[in-house]
Amino acid sequence: MASPSRAPQVGQSLGGVLGQRLWNAVGTLVQPVRPLQWDATNTVANRARVIAVSAQKGGVGKTTTAVHLAAGLAQHHGLHVLLVDLDAQGHVASSLRAHLRTGADTYVSQALLAHDPDLAGAATPTTLPRLHITLADKQLSNAEAQLATRMGRDLVLARALRTVRSRFDVIVIDCPPNLGLLTLNALYAADQLLVPCDLSVLALEGVDDLMRTLQTLQWTLGRCPQVLGLLHTRVDRRNHKQNSAMRRAIAQSYHGLSLRTEIGVNTALPGAQLQGKVVFEAQPESSGARDYRSLCDEVHLRLFADSQDSHVPPPLFKPLITLPSPRRTGAVAAPR
Ligand SMILES: Nc1ncnc2c1ncn2[C@@H]1O[C@H](COP(=O)(O)OP(=O)(O)OP(=O)(O)O)[C@@H](O)[C@H]1O
Ligand SMILES: [Mg+2]
Repeated sequence: MASPSRAPQVGQSLGGVLGQRLWNAVGTLVQPVRPLQWDATNTVANRARVIAVSAQKGGVGKTTTAVHLAAGLAQHHGLHVLLVDLDAQGHVASSLRAHLRTGADTYVSQALLAHDPDLAGAATPTTLPRLHITLADKQLSNAEAQLATRMGRDLVLARALRTVRSRFDVIVIDCPPNLGLLTLNALYAADQLLVPCDLSVLALEGVDDLMRTLQTLQWTLGRCPQVLGLLHTRVDRRNHKQNSAMRRAIAQSYHGLSLRTEIGVNTALPGAQLQGKVVFEAQPESSGARDYRSLCDEVHLRLFADSQDSHVPPPLFKPLITLPSPRRTGAVAAPR
C-alpha cells in the first residue's frame, strides 16, 4: 500500500488533476492506517525520552537510581523531568517525602485504569526545581490484575504517557522488582532501558531474564527499548578481586553495555532516604552524591549527544541493539 508520505509522487505519476483526485480519495483511506505503536508512543508532539529503570532482582538500587537520575537531570541539567512510580511499594514518594508538595489527587493506578488512560492528572510538582512525580499506591497491584484482562494490556502505560510526553524532556519510570505486566508496560513505553545490577551472580541472572524479555517484546509487539546501559550499583570498592571477576563476567555476556559510572556503597544514600531527601540536598559532598551526579552526566551525554537540539525527538523507529546471547563463565555461574 502506498504510504501517505509518497502521496505527491503517486499523484504525479498518475498524471495531473485526475491523479491528485484519485490520491485524495485513496489518501483519506490510507492516512488512518498506522501501526498501533505510532499512536501509542510516537505522536508528533512527543519529545520526552522515556527511560525505564528495571531489574528483576530486588534491592539492587532501582528506586535510588530512578530518584537520583530524575532529580539530577532536573537539578543539574535543567531538564523538565517526570518520575513515574510503577511499584506498589510506593518507595519513590517515601524517598522524596521532604520534597513533596500537597498530595496529588490521582494515583498511578487510577490513571491507568481510566477509560482513556492519561498520567497528566497524576503528575504532581515537587519542591525540587523542574521535577514532577506520580505517586504509586497499594492499589497498583490490584490495578495490574484488572489490566491483565484488558485488550492491549501491554500498551496501557504507553497510551497514558501520550500527553505528558510533550510536557517533559525526560520521563523516568521506576519499575517493580519482577517482570510482571507493569514492567512489560514500562518496557513497551520506554525508549531506553537502564538496568541497575549489583556485582552479584544473582543480579546477573536477573539481567539475562530481562534481556530475554526484551527479545520476546520485540517478537510479539514489534518494539522494545534500547539498552541505555547496565549500571553497577552498591559496589563495595574494597572488594577488588570479586569486583574484577564480576566485571569480567558481565563484560563477557554484555560487552560494552556497562556504563562507565559505578555507584559505590555509601551510607549517605540510605541516610538521605531516611530524611526523605535526595542525597544532593542531604549530603552533597558524599561519594553517593558524586556517583549519582556522574551517572546523570553520563546519561545526559548518551541521551542527547546524538542531536544538537536536545528537544528534537528520537527517530520514530530506531534500529534495535543486537541483543547479546547470554553466556556464562564457569567461574561465576550460579549453582543450578
Ligand atoms: N549505593 C548504595 N549504598 C548503600 N545503600 C544503598 C545504595 N543504593 C541503595 N541503597 C539502599 O538499599 C536499599 C534498597 O535500595 P532501593 O530501594 O533503591 O532498591 P530497589 O531495587 O528499588 O528495591 P526493590 O526491589 O524493593 O524495589 C535502600 O535502603 C537504599 O537506601
Ligand atoms: Mg524499588
